[in-house]
Formats: sequence, structure tokens, C-alpha cells
Amino acid sequence: MLSTSHLVAGTVFMMATMSFPPSIPPIRVAIVGAGAISEFQHVPGLQLDPRAELVAVCDVDPQRADLLLSKWGARWMTTDFHEVCHSSDVDALIIATPNDTHAPITIAAVQQGKHVLCEKPLGRTAAEVRSMVQAAHRAGVVHMTGFTYRFAPAMRYLRHLLTTGALGQPRHFRSQRFLDLPETSWGWRQVRDRAGAGNLFDMTIHRIDLALDLLGPLTEVCGDVRQFARRTLREDGSPCPASEVDDWSAIIGHFESGAVGVWEGTTLAKGHHHGGFGHEWAEINGSEASAVYRLHQPNQLWRGSPTRDLTPEEVPAEFLTPAGSPRDPKEGVPAVVFRYDVVWEFISAILEPRSAVPDFCDGLAAQLVADAVLQSHRDRRWVTIPTETRP
Ligand SMILES: NC(=O)c1ccc[n+]([C@@H]2O[C@H](COP(=O)([O-])OP(=O)(O)OC[C@H]3O[C@@H](n4cnc5c(N)ncnc54)[C@H](O)[C@@H]3O)[C@@H](O)[C@H]2O)c1
Repeated sequence: MLSTSHLVAGTVFMMATMSFPPSIPPIRVAIVGAGAISEFQHVPGLQLDPRAELVAVCDVDPQRADLLLSKWGARWMTTDFHEVCHSSDVDALIIATPNDTHAPITIAAVQQGKHVLCEKPLGRTAAEVRSMVQAAHRAGVVHMTGFTYRFAPAMRYLRHLLTTGALGQPRHFRSQRFLDLPETSWGWRQVRDRAGAGNLFDMTIHRIDLALDLLGPLTEVCGDVRQFARRTLREDGSPCPASEVDDWSAIIGHFESGAVGVWEGTTLAKGHHHGGFGHEWAEINGSEASAVYRLHQPNQLWRGSPTRDLTPEEVPAEFLTPAGSPRDPKEGVPAVVFRYDVVWEFISAILEPRSAVPDFCDGLAAQLVADAVLQSHRDRRWVTIPTETRP
């Protein structure tokens, strides 16, 4: 039995009392990339999961790795990802580094038989992502893509309503992700060679994944991207090379099912704050009813029909957390804490064992669409999405 509390993302987070058979050794995890998302999401997720143990921290910045080693309670640190890939002390990696490093680190890890949860976008191009899918498949390890928003309770519930027919035949998918971010440097995120693309790969790719998961494959898209902010100054006012990537992206898409989708994402939507979570709206209009998910209130879903205006309803308890999770849904900030369920899914898939959801194939499917959006923008035309069979 275990009952404890953790200091997580600045708040005291109480972990529910639960049992975990002591005979099963924990999955030993190394974090590669001790940056923002590791601190905000992955480490709290690991701290909540008695089936996992954070054993190592790897970051090219030794000071960062050292600092977080003691803060996170890991056993050892390194600046060389090959060391964690070759360590017999590590079962699984969480890769949360800049986008250009995802493929080399993932491939080195899976070749050593390590399970991998890799952040989105999996790579900078579909070709790069395909090499990761193939390597993971050959190695027979568990592979997972960090598409966090699938885990929002309202999104889980929306998926349930859709698959049980409560919305009727889905006709329209709509996604808006508007942030009001400072117009200063994005660091590696504004270097095309490192990031691949800007808002499209950073934000909109999550929403491409949501749509593919809910409505199935897309056949063609017409997309556009644009850069408005040059970002030639860092936060401290010092000059830096101008941004090479988009800060606005938009897509119209046709699904195989006959449904249509519309996406828009920007980091320059002044005033869209919602307590730091920004504006996120994902909606499905079906032949019988409509349903809306909003990130800043992820434990509610808005539902409407010809006889009822769109009205918020509480997400039923069974959709608030994944089955078996020790996370208490009443604890913490709702728009933060569902993100910890990503690690729960990764560890569950390793232990059961089964494929993780979403896996690298889902990462590739989203990347194929994102690549097609860039091609559509370049060629100023609709682009067919290549069909890709799962290995
Ligand atoms: N799923 C989500 O909601 C979500 C949210 C934010 C970021 N992300 C993704 O997570 C990844 C990291 O983003 P972030 O915001 O944490 O970035 P960050 O810049 O805050 O952190 C990246 C860290 O990786 C380290 N690093 C760079 N190259 C490395 C290497 N070769 N080996 C080891 N460490 C290395 C850096 O020193 C830095 O500490 C990106 O791919 C991003 O798209 C996902």
C-alpha cells in the first residue's frame, strides 16, 4: 500500500491510496531532454505511477541534468543519450528533446530493446518518422507518441459519444487552438532544421491527431501557413536570428467517411488567455447532435441538438481517469493533471503487454497530413494524403 504526496508543478498533489503488487519490479525509466515538458508533465506522471521508477536523467546541458537529477530523485545523469540506450539499468525512455533529435535517439533506443515514449511531432518529415516506425516495429518494443490532448477527459467522453452513435453520423470536425504568446524568440522552435515547422508541428499536429482518431483517415487537405512575428529578440532583449517558421496554420480536409474538417492554430491571438491555457475548441457536428471539448474546462463537455442549445455537462466519472489509474480526478488543476495519464498509458502498455495508444503509427499518420499541409501551401493546391499501412 502506498499513500504519499508530491510537490508537482508548484502544487501539492495528493496521491490516492492504492496497491501495487510488490513482487512486480517497477519499469525503470530514463528521461532524455530535461526541459519544459518533462518537468510539467512526464515527471509528475512518473511520480504518480507506482509501477514506474525514474532512474536516469539525460540532457546535453549538464547543469540542467544535474539540477533535475536531485530535484526529481533519479539515480544517475548523463549528457550522452547513447549511455541510457546501452544501460542495463533502463527499460524505457521518455524522449522530450527538440524535434530534430527524436529520430536518432529513438532508433538508438529501440535497437537496444528499450520501450520509447517520444514527444510529438515524432520527426520533421514523414520519411524521418517512417524510419522510427520501422525500427520500433523490428525491435518489437512498445512505442508511443506524446499526443497529450487525447487524454483530456472531455475528449475521451466525446470519443465515446461518437462511437456509440449519440451524435449520429459525424459531418463536420472543427478545431481552434489560439494562444497569445510573446513575440520573442522561440529558441530551437524557430529554426526550421531543428523544428521542421512552427505552429503547424507544435500545436496543430495534436489536433490533426484528434481528428484522425475521432473520424478516421483524411483523403486530401488544402492548407496554408504564415509567419507574422519575426522574433529577432530573445526574452532578455538580446538579438537573435529571425524565425524561419510559421506562427499561424489552417487546414480544410476531406475524410474518407465523407465528413469534412476545418482547423486553425495561432500563437498570436491577442487576449486568448483562459488562465494561461489559451483557447482550444474541438467540435463535432453529427446528424443528430453536436459536442464540444474545451481545454480550459476539460472535465465538461458541451452538447446540443435540434431541441437543446449547446449546454455544458459534467464528464461522467469513468472518463475522468484511465482504468486503474491512482490519479484522484478531484486533485490539481483539471487542465494540467490529465496530462499525467500519458505516462500511465505508456507504463500500462509495457506491463500488460500491448500496443500503446497512440503509437508511432498514429504519429506517422498525423505527420503525413502535416507534410501534405506544407506541400499544399507551397504548391497552392489540394494534396492527396498517401495511404500508409501499419507494419
Ligand atoms: N505533448 C505536449 O503537449 C508537448 C508540450 C510541449 C512540448 N512538447 C514536445 O516536447 C519536446 C521538447 O519540448 P520542450 O518544450 O520540453 O523543449 P525544451 O527546450 O524546454 O527542452 C528540451 C531539452 O532537451 C535538451 N536536449 C537537446 N538536445 C538533446 C540531446 N541530443 N540529448 C539530450 N537532451 C537534449 C535541452 O538541453 C533541453 O533541456 C518537443 O518535441 C516538443 O514539441 C510536447
